[in-house]
Amino acid sequence: MTTSVPKLKPTVQKGQHQPAKREILPEIITVTSGKGGVGKTNISVNLGILLSQRRQRVLLLDADLHLGKLDVVIGATPRYTLAELVEGSQTLEQIIMQHPSGIDILPATSGDLNLLEADSQMLKVLAESFATIQARYDYLIVDTGAGVSPTVLTMALGADKVILIVTPEPASISDVYAMIKVIRSKSPELPLILLPNRLKSLEDGLELHKKLNLITQKFLKTNLCYGGSIVEDTAIGQAIIRQRPYVLEYPRSQAAHNLQLVCHRLLKLPPQQIRYRSNIFDRLRTSRKEVESL
Ligand SMILES: Nc1ncnc2c1ncn2[C@@H]1O[C@H](COP(=O)(O)OP(=O)(O)O)[C@@H](O)[C@H]1O
Ligand SMILES: [Mg+2]
Repeated sequence: MTTSVPKLKPTVQKGQHQPAKREILPEIITVTSGKGGVGKTNISVNLGILLSQRRQRVLLLDADLHLGKLDVVIGATPRYTLAELVEGSQTLEQIIMQHPSGIDILPATSGDLNLLEADSQMLKVLAESFATIQARYDYLIVDTGAGVSPTVLTMALGADKVILIVTPEPASISDVYAMIKVIRSKSPELPLILLPNRLKSLEDGLELHKKLNLITQKFLKTNLCYGGSIVEDTAIGQAIIRQRPYVLEYPRSQAAHNLQLVCHRLLKLPPQQIRYRSNIFDRLRTSRKEVESL
């Protein structure tokens, strides 16, 4: 089992918003996958809640722009999104939802973060606004859409760590490999954490990691960190019907237990060094340029 993470590299670029001296910025974790419908939103929300139960301050950026089902998973519909911030009609504080589960949510809709079209002035406005609140959080979890699209890649390349969700279906495995290949072509050291989901058993998850890791070692000369696995569990569907996060509604379910271990593993990985952390929207300005050059 490979749990080693490549050494983290500086990601702050010249001209970006440097935090004030004593500010500690959140670590940015992007949750993504090669294929859609594999559990990204459920994992982002519930992992965020488990982290907050361990006294971590979590902000979830809902950036799954087309099929975002965050409101269903969490049972709350956002009043405003980043669009209102960019227009200037709402402040960031008015947009961020404080969910009773303990996490804060920053909602985006399709278009808000259409990063190929967003002009860099807009990202600069977002960065300046975000700079005023970012130090309140320990983790920024970015829930994205699936697949090798420019927006998703920009979000992945702007992160400190990437969690890749994969299910045992062949299409999900080949799509996540395609994703890893593109990320690695631009970022040789970004830590990639594989999280197998919807498994018959935890052993299947370990096996899936082992197989994929052998392939990425052979063809991409890179290691995938193992983030833990989650079994197929009807509690997740039941929780969605009740519009409640499953770690709160069914804390004794197998999926909740599995996710506790994922959370534990994540907290044990070496964090991005504080001096190399930076504003997510500054990061997106930089990583967008990298994606455009693909
Ligand atoms: N471990 C699991 N067991 C059972 N159902 C799951 C599991 N993970 C996800 N699902 C189901 O898969 C569907 C898609 O999940 P979602 O988190 O919205 O995926 P994504 O964000 O990747 O599109 C949901 O209906 C959810 O109930
Ligand atoms: Mg989703």
